Amino acid sequence: MSAHVAVLPGDGIGPEVAAEAIRVLGTLGIDHSEHPFGGNAILDQGTPLPEETLAACREADAVLLAAVGLPELEGKPVRPEQGLLGLRRELGVYANLRPARAEGIDMLIVRELTGGLYFGAKGTRDDGTWFDTCEYTRTEVERIARCGFNLARARSGRLTSVDKVNVMHTSRLWRDVVSELGAEEYSDVPLDHALVDSFAMTIVNAPGTIDVVLTENTFGDILSDVAAAVTGGLGLAGSASLGDDGPGLFEPVHGSAPQIAGRGIANPAAMLRSTALLLRHGLDRATDADALDAAIDEALRDAPTPDLGGSASTSALGDAVLHALDRSRTL
Ligand code: NAD
Ligand code: IPM
Ligand code: MN
Repeated sequence: MSAHVAVLPGDGIGPEVAAEAIRVLGTLGIDHSEHPFGGNAILDQGTPLPEETLAACREADAVLLAAVGLPELEGKPVRPEQGLLGLRRELGVYANLRPARAEGIDMLIVRELTGGLYFGAKGTRDDGTWFDTCEYTRTEVERIARCGFNLARARSGRLTSVDKVNVMHTSRLWRDVVSELGAEEYSDVPLDHALVDSFAMTIVNAPGTIDVVLTENTFGDILSDVAAAVTGGLGLAGSASLGDDGPGLFEPVHGSAPQIAGRGIANPAAMLRSTALLLRHGLDRATDADALDAAIDEALRDAPTPDLGGSASTSALGDAVLHALDRSRTL
């Protein structure tokens, strides 16, 4: 049976960039279905992650998400972003791979995705205090650390673990577990540790010195936008969210970009890079992934969008990708 991809176009520029990815899936003969998710699902059904959507994601071989978020729902009790966190948790995709590449830069951020501040206890106390809690178990740290070490080893690289051990209690667990695992099972992988504040500066000042980065959920969220900024911007940054089994979730690093939504100028490259990651990690189609990555490289040279200083529309860049992909596949 051929592979099936559940596509969640979402909100804002989401449907615009999803359309280009759907064209690529079509060219590759990959079956897909689309499902409501995020702000549009809240407005229509009162929930960002309808049961039908979750069921379709579970049954699919891989899930391709564009972006969620509507300005009118920001900070509301029911928010699009809760659907995204719920989906990540339900699919158990704890390892979020966020590559950032440019001339002389080849960084891979491995972000823990289902723990930490995002999923710890939160609420409001009687005295009026609002709180979020950062929580990690040894098991949660160990499995993402293993993932980081394996990825660094596979590319004969180095691993930099990023924490805030000078302040945070959970960072002490993080550093201990990573150090122990490194010494016991990955002594062939060079390991160093960095504090998150100065490491953010290193990403800006010396990105070419960085290889594989291992970090917790909140730090990884912030650092991956910084890494995107020094490698061409959010319009280029794709990601893969993987668990131990079941479908992976493939999603750009960027959001729904409401300021440019509906104008046909969003850069679909981040979504298409995520599609390449889906082919590689989700469907085991490395040859197609390589061909798509090469086609994106070529299209970005020929038809850059406004965020890159060009004037191509979303669909014009999509056309250029399809053209390059079709040519490479008929060679
Ligand atoms: P954003 O990533 O949507 O936009 C940040 C900046 O990057 C804006 O200037 C935007 O125009 C630009 N940008 C982003 N993607 C682009 C693209 N493909 N092409 C060209 N320019 C692009 O971040 P934000 O403005 O902070 O958040 C907007 C909404 O998106 C919020 O509701 C937020 O919660 C949500 N969000 C969702 C996801 C997701 O669904 N995975 C990720 C991040 C933010
Ligand atoms: C990301 C986004 C999400 C996150 C939000 C929308 C929940 O910013 O994927 O980077 O913080 O993980
Ligand atoms: Mn983010």
